[in-house]
Parts: sequence; structure tokens; C-alpha cells
Amino acid sequence: MSRYAAAHVDPQGPGDARPTALQIVQDEDFKGKLTGKVAVVTGVSSGLGIETVRALAATGATLYLTARNLDKAKAALADIFDSRTMTLVQMDQASLESVRIAAQTILSKTTQISLLVANAGVMANPDLRLTDKGHEMQFATNHLSHFLFFNLLKSALLAGSSSAFQSRVVMLSSAGHRVGGINSSDNYHYQNGGYNPWAAYAQSKTANVYMANEIERRYGSQGLHAYSLNPGIAATGIIGQLSSEEIMGMLQDKAMLKAQKGLDQGAATTIYAAISKDLEGRGGSVSE
Ligand SMILES: NC(=O)c1ccc[n+]([C@@H]2O[C@H](COP(=O)([O-])OP(=O)(O)OC[C@H]3O[C@@H](n4cnc5c(N)ncnc54)[C@H](OP(=O)(O)O)[C@@H]3O)[C@@H](O)[C@H]2O)c1
Repeated sequence: MSRYAAAHVDPQGPGDARPTALQIVQDEDFKGKLTGKVAVVTGVSSGLGIETVRALAATGATLYLTARNLDKAKAALADIFDSRTMTLVQMDQASLESVRIAAQTILSKTTQISLLVANAGVMANPDLRLTDKGHEMQFATNHLSHFLFFNLLKSALLAGSSSAFQSRVVMLSSAGHRVGGINSSDNYHYQNGGYNPWAAYAQSKTANVYMANEIERRYGSQGLHAYSLNPGIAATGIIGQLSSEEIMGMLQDKAMLKAQKGLDQGAATTIYAAISKDLEGRGGSVSE
């Protein structure tokens, strides 16, 4: 985000000089420019997902928006929801069957998709939780479900690519991926023990990076590109699994408080990866 590099040198907390998601749409001159294009966003019932929808709505794109709790999503999006251009689709990412049904629902309405934002996520479940298929909950929600969802939508993403706007997959990773990498293949789900909330989050977020890289490798030459990104720090529902001690620790960390962004700023990197002309025709990682 070189245009915005100076604004990130000395952050001053939410509302500082760092751009908002809507500002990126404005700066990139994308207002109304994606009319007729289809975008899909996961996890729109809270936090960065809401602001991502707000900014994408300004581009004029037709939006398919997934949430596990549709009532919560409707309430969260109440001030921006437009039934002419937006469709809410139920998808619980702890269930691969639910992902399949959601993808079928979307593909029954459109055969071309130009943008997929893999935004839904959970962080640092304090204890080991498994899905009904025995998958560790963070790996399942953050990675496996998005992996399946992408593969089910892949043909439509390839079909939605055009010379003017090549298709993009945007994976929300995290600086937290640096805590650790991917477990050995017999321990993705901590079958052999050793569960750690942050290592499990790191595994899932490393997988997000690898997935974007591999999509770029396999499909970049066919006009389907992928980006992984760290959105920075924003106070969202993602901290819901943390202990009060962990939250108190964050509140006393002055550097972290200054680095914190507003929610509208937290979605800016996502929107930059989604529409920036600088990134047209090439994938990779994008830092806040
Ligand atoms: N905020 C940050 O500081 C930060 C930093 C680095 C990376 N990120 C990444 O940014 C992304 C967005 O997170 P956020 O900060 O906006 O957190 P958030 O407010 O908690 O939003 C997460 C979204 O994911 C959804 N979700 C969780 N589990 C799900 C499931 N099983 N099925 C379907 N949806 C599910 C949530 O649904 P419910 O509303 O139903 O819970 C919510 O809509 C995540 O991938 C996160 O890892 C955030």
C-alpha cells in the first residue's frame, strides 16, 4: 500500500490518518465501477466483514454475503443492506455440508464471480474444539471451509475474469500466523495432543497464506489471482474467546493501542487487495 505508507509510520489509533475502506474505493476511482460484477464475502455478521460489505456496496457490485447466523447478519448490515444488489446466504463454516449447500445456492443464481473475500474467522479457542468431522475448529473455520468454498466456486471465478478486471481471491490472514506454521500431517487436528490456542490460530492463518500462494501459482495465468493479507488490529468480535487477563494485557499495551485501527480502517487492506489497480493481474501478500 505504498500510497498509504506514510500514514502507517506513526499510527495514532482508530480514526488516524490511515485510510478507511471507503477511502480506498474513492482513491481507486471504483465508485460504481463494478456494477454487473459479482463478489462473495464470508463472515459478514460482525467486525471487518460489515465494513468490507459497506465498501464493496459502493463499487456497485452484486454481493453474495455469507453468515452462519442470518438474523445477526441482517441486524449488522441493517443500514447498508440493499436487497436489489445483496443476497444473504446461510453458511456455517464449521460444517462442510453447510459450505457445499451455500456454494450451490450461489451457483444457482450466478455462473460468474469476480471476487471472493475469505473473511470469516475465529481466534484462539481456549480449549481444543472439533467439528462433527473431527477437524480442529480454527483450522476448519478459517481454512478448510474456505478451501472447499473456493474449489466449489472456482469455475465461476475463472468464468468471471475479464481483461478489464481479472478475478481475485482475498484471504484474510493475520500477523498471528508467525506464532507457528502448519502441524505435521498427522496432527492437523491435534490428534496427538499439544493443543495451544495461538498455535492453532497460527496454523489456520498460515494455511490462508499458503492457499493464496497456491491459487496464484495454479490459476494466475488464467486470470484468477489471490492475495493474503494482515488487516492490522481492530477491536472486533475476534477477541471473544480471550480471557479477561489477555484483554487487560492488550488494553495496557500502549503500542498496541496506537496500532489499533477503526473498523472502517481495518477493512481497508481487504478492499485494497480486492480492487487496487496496482495489483491488477498479479497476486501475492499485502501488508496493512
Ligand atoms: N480484528 C483483528 O484485529 C484481526 C487481526 C488479524 C486478522 N483478522 C482476521 O480478520 C477476519 C475477520 O475477523 P474480525 O476481526 O472481523 O472478527 P469478528 O468480528 O469476530 O468476525 C468474524 C466473522 O466470522 C464469522 N464466523 C466465525 N465462525 C464462523 C462459522 N463457524 N461459520 C461462519 N461464520 C463464522 C463470525 O460470525 P458470528 O458473527 O456468527 O460470530 C463473524 O461474522 C478473520 O479472518 C480474522 O482472523 C482480524
